[in-house]
Amino acid sequence: MNDTILITGGNGNLGRLVAERLEAQGSRIVSFDLPGSDGPHSAPRDTVVLGDVRDTALLRDTLATHRPDAIIHLASLLSGSSEADPTAAWEINASASVALMQLARELAPGPFVFSSSVATYGPGLPSPLAVDAPQWPETIYGATKVAVERMGHYLRRVHGFDFRCLRFPMVLSPFAPPTALTAYPSHAFRAAIEGRPFTFPVHPETGMSNLFLDDVVDSIVQLVRADGSRLVTPGYNLHGYSLTAGEIAAELSARVQGFTCDFQPDPVVVGFVGGGPDEMDSTPARAEWDWRPKFDFKTSAATLLDRLAAEVR
Ligand SMILES: NC(=O)c1ccc[n+]([C@@H]2O[C@H](COP(=O)([O-])OP(=O)(O)OC[C@H]3O[C@@H](n4cnc5c(N)ncnc54)[C@H](O)[C@@H]3O)[C@@H](O)[C@H]2O)c1
Repeated sequence: MNDTILITGGNGNLGRLVAERLEAQGSRIVSFDLPGSDGPHSAPRDTVVLGDVRDTALLRDTLATHRPDAIIHLASLLSGSSEADPTAAWEINASASVALMQLARELAPGPFVFSSSVATYGPGLPSPLAVDAPQWPETIYGATKVAVERMGHYLRRVHGFDFRCLRFPMVLSPFAPPTALTAYPSHAFRAAIEGRPFTFPVHPETGMSNLFLDDVVDSIVQLVRADGSRLVTPGYNLHGYSLTAGEIAAELSARVQGFTCDFQPDPVVVGFVGGGPDEMDSTPARAEWDWRPKFDFKTSAATLLDRLAAEVR
């Protein structure tokens, strides 16, 4: 592919992996992220724009200069930071995303991929979770994502804007930020490899829908390339496998000698994940753009342990 793709949040955990994957396919990447956001894993990109997505003038200039064929919008405050500063969460996650979509309509009308979340749904919904289940989240993080979904859907319906939305479940990843409250499955794997005991902040039977990092990255790359004429669903729920904290503990005990853990449910974390679905219905993604996850829990666990072990060696 000889196209140009703008990735906001291009220095983030997903952004840089998506950039690598697209570069390997021949795309030119314009990465937009905050000054100082590059870390030890960052690689040089064709074009890097450092700034804040709240800076609408800079976004306009970036789109007008580079005229990307597609936009992958990943810049966001995550769950913990959003709840800690709801005003900033609304500005960054909701208002800036809406401004970017309006600019994109004018200056870069190709596919616009938005990273939403299972957190857009409230607690107590049936599993598997249908894509059109009611979206009444109890967190500001979830509320900001719903706001963008609604505007994206409106722009698509009324103006033909090519809005494409993925709702990720919990992501099993070696890069889970230590502050991400709901990333305890990934944190447990890191503790096991580093020889530390781990306290699960939920009940052993607390289940959730999971997807391995590589499948998340694949889904973004696949959706930005998907044939738009087949896409009719406003938001795609993705699901790899259902998993309880107890199953994670058992897997780690079996695979990592000396691993120990206990369970001390934290009401805040349980509030985030406890009432969530342990399966998301990914039928529309499978039907409309042939999505299939490659990793089940066993292969995710083995791959994640290998990568973490390589990191600490
Ligand atoms: N299940 C889920 O809820 C789930 C799981 C994974 C990812 N996601 C979504 O995927 C996206 C990427 O996630 P990630 O894991 O790569 O997170 P990340 O925190 O690693 O990356 C986000 C990036 O956005 C950047 N950013 C934050 N505020 C910014 C601002 N004001 N201006 C410019 N850049 C800003 C950060 O510097 C960071 O590099 C996010 O939108 C996230 O909400 C959701």
